[in-house]
Parts: sequence; C-alpha cells; structure tokens
Amino acid sequence: MKYIEKIQQSAAYIQEKLGKIQPGTTALVTGTGLGSLTEAVESPESLPYADIPGFPVSTVPSHAGRLIRGELAGVPVLVLHGRFHLYEGFDAREVTHAVRTLGELSVSTLILTNAAGALNPSFATGAPMLIEDHINLTGTTPLRGQNNDAWGDRFPDMRRVYDPVLRELTLRMALKLGIRLERGVFMQVMGPNMETPAETRMYRSMGADAIGMSTCMEAIAAHHMNIRLLAISCLTNKNLPDCMEEASLQDVIATAERGSGLMTRLLEAILKEIPQLTE
Ligand code: HPA
Repeated sequence: MKYIEKIQQSAAYIQEKLGKIQPGTTALVTGTGLGSLTEAVESPESLPYADIPGFPVSTVPSHAGRLIRGELAGVPVLVLHGRFHLYEGFDAREVTHAVRTLGELSVSTLILTNAAGALNPSFATGAPMLIEDHINLTGTTPLRGQNNDAWGDRFPDMRRVYDPVLRELTLRMALKLGIRLERGVFMQVMGPNMETPAETRMYRSMGADAIGMSTCMEAIAAHHMNIRLLAISCLTNKNLPDCMEEASLQDVIATAERGSGLMTRLLEAILKEIPQLTE
C-alpha cells in the first residue's frame, strides 16, 4: 500500500472511532517524561496506536502510545501520547506517520514537546525552552522520496518553521505566569547513544542550544503540510563538553516529570489564547 493510502486509512479509522475532528483543532505531542500532560486532559477518549491501522507500534516503554481526544483548558485537543523515533529503527516517514495523519484530519496547529539536553551553558535544567529554529543533523528527512503535492511543496521554504505568532504568545504567557523560559536552536540527532564530549563541543559550535532525538522530523512534516507549529523542550540535563555529567534515561524522565507541571501550566495558558489569535 502506498504511504498516502496508509495515512488515509489511519485517518479514516480515527474519524470512525472518535467522530469528526473539527477542522482547525490543535494537537499536541508529548515528549519523554511529559506524559502527565495527558492527565490534565478532560473528558478523554483514547485509541491505542496498536489499534489504528497503518500506525507504527512504539518500542519504547516510556512512550506508551495512545491517541487521546478531549479538552485541555476548555479547548478541544488531540494528544499524541507517545511518539516514534529514528533510533527505534523506523524511517523518517514512519516516524512522522502520526503527524501526517493529523494533517489529513485537518489539524491546523501542532504543539511538539520533548526532553532535551541543554548545550547552552547559561540554561537552567528543568526549565522549558521555546524552540525558535532547528538543525536537523539526522541525515534524513520525512520528505525523502516522491512528493505528495496535495500535502505541500517539493522544496518547502524553511525560514519560519516555528510560527512567530505562537512564539510571541508563548513568551507573553511565560512572563505572565512568572515561568523562566529559555529560547534557542534545537538540534536533532539520531541517537540512541548520548553525545561524546567532542560531539557536544561541535554541536554547540554549530549553533545549537539544546539537543534531542526527536522533533525535527515531525516539524518538517508538519511544516510541509502548512500546519502552524509550536515546539517546547523540557531541558532535562546540561551537556558541558569539559565536565560531562551522566544523563541516564531515569534522570531524564525524573527531571522531565518534575518540569511537566510548569509545562502543563504554560501550555494551558497558550491553548486558551489560540482561538483568539489572528494570523
Ligand atoms: N542528548 C540527546 N538527547 C537527549 C538528551 C541529551 O543530552 N537529553 C534528553 N534527550
């Protein structure tokens, strides 16, 4: 079956089980340790990824894998609880299957969250970082292969992947709530290994403020489909090349869980304002 047909099959199943998704709905993707965001969803109805035809099945226990429909801060949302990673063995198209499906369902705004290591030495661990731009260092892209012109351009413009209006709104909401919000450039690497000190030094000198193993693939696919994007990292550890500290998965999850309260408050404040935004 062709990729586009698989995506349409997934979208049709979701509509059949959850009813019509209102065009213009906002969707969120929860990153490592940020699953508690889903606990704030009211009137949730959920579908395990494993039941959705065409969906890949995640191999990472910390990414449970459910699509949830409900309300956050009184706003209708779809939440992708769990995501797919290149390091699991999925290719870039499989990794972005769920985001493509959201696009087919006419989702117009997507909020990506992730856990990331800080490369900028002035950043605070546990703080959220607004992603202003990215460096895709994976060597692959979900746009590789035949282009589906109905989704977007063959050579999409990438000057403003992360929506300036949503970024400005995020800064305003962080200020209003008194949340320390870092901002900077996010870099995606393939993983699953963490970085050596030499790599860390190189990535920092290339212009990255934070690093992780997800997000750029989804951002590229969503931007290709003209979905308005916001992405926020939770900085779970700090990578300083001259004094590297171990960042075990347990530590990353524990720090993300501690940071998830702040993240939930920030996202709720943002979501409440989205319907009032003009282009
Ligand atoms: N490197 C890569 N991915 C990560 C890190 C890191 O330090 N922390 C959380 N995800």
